[in-house]
Amino acid sequence: MPLSGVLMSLLGGRPINFFDLFLIPPIAENKEAAGLLRQVHGYVAYALAGLIGLHILAALKHAVIDRDGTLARMLSGKPADI
Ligand code: HEM
Repeated sequence: MPLSGVLMSLLGGRPINFFDLFLIPPIAENKEAAGLLRQVHGYVAYALAGLIGLHILAALKHAVIDRDGTLARMLSGKPADI
């Protein structure tokens, strides 16, 4: 996502404001490549949203159906004992 976002902006002629610290100026403008990267950015965003949704459903399955402590471990932030 960040890579397609950054390249889309810079090839599309848009500077990137890095947290108000500095501006990254656009590189050689290529509207065709920028348009393609915009599409990639959109598709990858949907894929990411789908994966996050699946991850939430899987975590709930572990908690409600398997009752195996996976969700509790995820929330604790500690790795599993191996
Ligand atoms: C995890 C990181 C990111 C996520 C989840 C994300 C998500 C999105 C989504 C959902 C859109 C709307 C897409 C659409 O209208 O089809 C969007 C648009 C956009 N994003 Fe990102 N983005 C991310 C990172 C970045 C970065 C790092 C940049 C550039 C520095 C960037 C630049 C843009 C721009 C310029 C648009 C507007 C595109 C347009 O409508 O012309 N994005 N982003």
